[in-house]
Amino acid sequence: MCGIVGIIGEKPVAARLVDALKRLEYRGYDSAGVATIHDGQLDRRRAEGKLANLEGRLSAEPLAGNIGIAHTRWATHGVPNETNAHPHFVEGVAVVHNGIIENFSELREALTHEGAVFLSQTDTEVVAHLVAKYLREGMTPRDAMLTTCNRIKGAFALAVMLRDEPDMLMATRSGPPLAVGYGKGEMFLGSDAIALAPFTNEVTYLVDGDCAFVTKSGLEIVDLKGNPLHREKQISQATAYLVDKGNHRHFMEKEIYEQPEVISHALANYVNFADKTVGEKAQALDFKSLTGLAVTACGTAYLAGLVGKYWFERYARLPVEIDVASEFRYREMPLSPSQAALVISQSGETADTLASLRYCKELGLKLGAIVNVRESTIARESDAVFPIMAGPEIGVASTKAFTCQLAVLASLAIAAGKARGHIDRAREREMVRHLAEMPRIMSNVLNLVQPQIENLARELSKCPDVLYLGRGTSFPLAMEGALKLKEISYIHAEGYAAGELKHGPIALIDEKMPVIVIAPYDRFFEKTVSNMQEVAARGGRIIFITDEAGAAASSLSTMASIVLPNVDEIIAPMIFSLPIQLLAYHTAVFMGTDVDQPRNLAKSVTVE
Ligand code: F6R
Repeated sequence: MCGIVGIIGEKPVAARLVDALKRLEYRGYDSAGVATIHDGQLDRRRAEGKLANLEGRLSAEPLAGNIGIAHTRWATHGVPNETNAHPHFVEGVAVVHNGIIENFSELREALTHEGAVFLSQTDTEVVAHLVAKYLREGMTPRDAMLTTCNRIKGAFALAVMLRDEPDMLMATRSGPPLAVGYGKGEMFLGSDAIALAPFTNEVTYLVDGDCAFVTKSGLEIVDLKGNPLHREKQISQATAYLVDKGNHRHFMEKEIYEQPEVISHALANYVNFADKTVGEKAQALDFKSLTGLAVTACGTAYLAGLVGKYWFERYARLPVEIDVASEFRYREMPLSPSQAALVISQSGETADTLASLRYCKELGLKLGAIVNVRESTIARESDAVFPIMAGPEIGVASTKAFTCQLAVLASLAIAAGKARGHIDRAREREMVRHLAEMPRIMSNVLNLVQPQIENLARELSKCPDVLYLGRGTSFPLAMEGALKLKEISYIHAEGYAAGELKHGPIALIDEKMPVIVIAPYDRFFEKTVSNMQEVAARGGRIIFITDEAGAAASSLSTMASIVLPNVDEIIAPMIFSLPIQLLAYHTAVFMGTDVDQPRNLAKSVTVE
């Protein structure tokens, strides 16, 4: 979603603001802009499209000034063009905004009635008009900001700069994240600590309803009534990571290859490799006394949750209610405090997931959160936080976060099985041993399948539609394979439960249709092979992703077989994720799409 940056200090800010925006590119955007104040003048440059366009504008017409705000916009209200790009200006007021102002139509109508002229189609512009109006009416900047914040409704983060107050930035947050960073003689604003990482690792995260007044020497935070608030300064982890592509062509490729390493960090947090036990951190929820788990998430994180459902139910006999967060939050499902909620979110900021978490909180459930960003809102609002330790995920399509979410879910499911008396010490030891083998096996598999997958991807890139099939935990993987392929290559793809094939999708099968079947040699294998036979009988082109035992047991002729080593069923979903991710990645590369920032997608979805 949109990214916000601000700097107030003693050195020129424009180039540094754009550098900080580059670190927010991963959130997804379609236009960008920067504004500064210099010699009593407010000025801006904006451009549709990528940041390179904005840099082009700035090099043709540089912006001076030691105070500025900047923005990457992901269009919600109004098309992505220069006029709708932020910052928006009204009479010396400059505003950048992330989120949605829900009552913008009525505010726009009221302001228009009073004579305001709107230049853009955005909801943001009402904020600039409101602040300008209150200043005109004689309010102080602080009161104008607070009064504006009290009039707007919705989920938003705002940074506001005033031409006549060149020593102050104002900001507020009600939904999307916003952090204030501390430098030497300089202060910063940023949508997250990654944006601020080159400047500082000392940050204060604003909380919903906070209004911040930032000068170059400090920060004052008040609530929406103007009462002073104290918020802790924290040392951000974001600076510990270098956000670059290393030797890889894309962040997505780098992140796929990072998995053996990051998954070992994820596991090390929850299991004790030495004595082969699940550790205390995996037991932060009282699994023994729970009557059920309510799991919710969006997109890839939801599909990780679906795999988790199979595990919790099978290994811990713990019933799991799961739904995508956008449905979960409105289903009004009866939940009881004897259940726990488990939300899964890479960013920890996804609006629907956060709303579902709050719904469960209201019903008195204990809240567990599996997140990547430990400082995120979801993490902060949960009782038990299970970090996935994947490091920043920059590619919009989730890869390493997915497998790390799975690793954490597997550890929790073992902890739950143990607590509920369904996994004994010997079984625990065996399962943890399998988890411990995973980084090594992942590394081998990545090297093993890469050349074959590059060749296959060339074929796949010529196909308009692809079907993925799987059973058991391979069913969510089939959906994840389809999601990955469609979001980065724009090829239409569907993931189905293999047993559902004959209830509809079989009508699509012809000799042009590739069908990717994910089938480790598990207890469902024979059944999945029967479904494959149904595809083969209709001339479908099968790409069979299996293991050595599966390849030996099936004599069906396929377009290709990707054969992985035999692995235990507890780690199969993580291992089988790798060829699926690589297939999507290489297909997208062949098609020449913007792999790291696919069209229309955002990394952190902070609106409904
Ligand atoms: C797909 C993808 C998305 C996210 C979804 C949830 O590759 O990345 O489907 O999984 O938007 O995001 P988080 O996990 O940040 O809540």
